[in-house]
Amino acid sequence: MPRKVILDVDTGSDDAVALCEAVLSPDIELVAACTVWGNQPVENTTDNTLRLFDALGVDVPVYKGANTAMTKYLCHDYVEFNANKIRPKAMKDGKEVHMHSAHLPIAPTDRKPEDMPAACFYVDYLRHATEKVTLIPVGPLTNLGLALRIAPDIIENIEEIVIMGGGSKVTNADPWSEANIMHDPEAAQIVAECGARVVWVPLDATHKAVITLDDCKRFREIGTFAANFCAYECEQRIFMHDVGQPLDIPHSAAVHDALCVAYVIDPTVLTDLRHVHVEVGLSGYGEGQTIIDQRAYTRPKNGWFAYDGDRFKFVDILCDCFKRDKSTAKVIEE
Ligand code: BDR
Ligand code: CA
Repeated sequence: MPRKVILDVDTGSDDAVALCEAVLSPDIELVAACTVWGNQPVENTTDNTLRLFDALGVDVPVYKGANTAMTKYLCHDYVEFNANKIRPKAMKDGKEVHMHSAHLPIAPTDRKPEDMPAACFYVDYLRHATEKVTLIPVGPLTNLGLALRIAPDIIENIEEIVIMGGGSKVTNADPWSEANIMHDPEAAQIVAECGARVVWVPLDATHKAVITLDDCKRFREIGTFAANFCAYECEQRIFMHDVGQPLDIPHSAAVHDALCVAYVIDPTVLTDLRHVHVEVGLSGYGEGQTIIDQRAYTRPKNGWFAYDGDRFKFVDILCDCFKRDKSTAKVIEE
């Protein structure tokens, strides 16, 4: 029996790979996608999600969610905050390349999101669910944080929450934080403490289970739309990693969000999953940090935190999904 899943995405290159994987896996029934800002404003992440479902030929409903954090940017200026970050410019053939382009390289769609906001959808759907649902939030946790704030009882129908976010030894947004958690620490802390089974897929794991250029070649040999599209997105990510964030394996990229979906398909893809107390730093230096209680006399354990992943198994899972695609869509390479 496939597992019912809701993905919460800020699509985004690695979100797009995660969506393809979830749509195509026989082990997953994707009941909806919620969208959130993060990699791009929510208008773009929603449109990207809709055009990808259109390209894949599936009719999964999309619920548009938050365009900013629950509270954080009431006291931080978002624009100023991001402008202060030092990001290397990556140029390829005279053009600037981004980790996440504003629009996915596929045909536009006239599909629209559902009327109900994402946070309300969580409450409505989970309160009426007749079987448990797995949630895979791979962007800022705002939608789910809001839903849990107003309806904490929804955890009764949550099988598990698989979060792409955080980092113990590896960070990317600040010296102490990963992007998804940095964007909305309060929401992340609400989810961390909600009482459902929470699995964290942090940078420690996603930087181990990487995708290489050779893996992209393997995707392209499969030849379906999903395989070509995901190869293109992964190649862009590899280029960006090479320019500004090189990983241990040369010419490789973390494709974070897709590793969460791979875990739902086959939990053994995460190879060092530790039961720990996780909490999120909420102010000053350390804001957005996932703090793991390492002490023997730890605070109550509230989550599972992954430290490693099996990159070969991950690639096999992706290939199995890509082979199943029957879409006739095309990648519009720039
Ligand atoms: C996370 O941040 C986003 O940019 C990616 O899509 C991923 O979810 C990695 O830090
Ligand atoms: Ca994401």
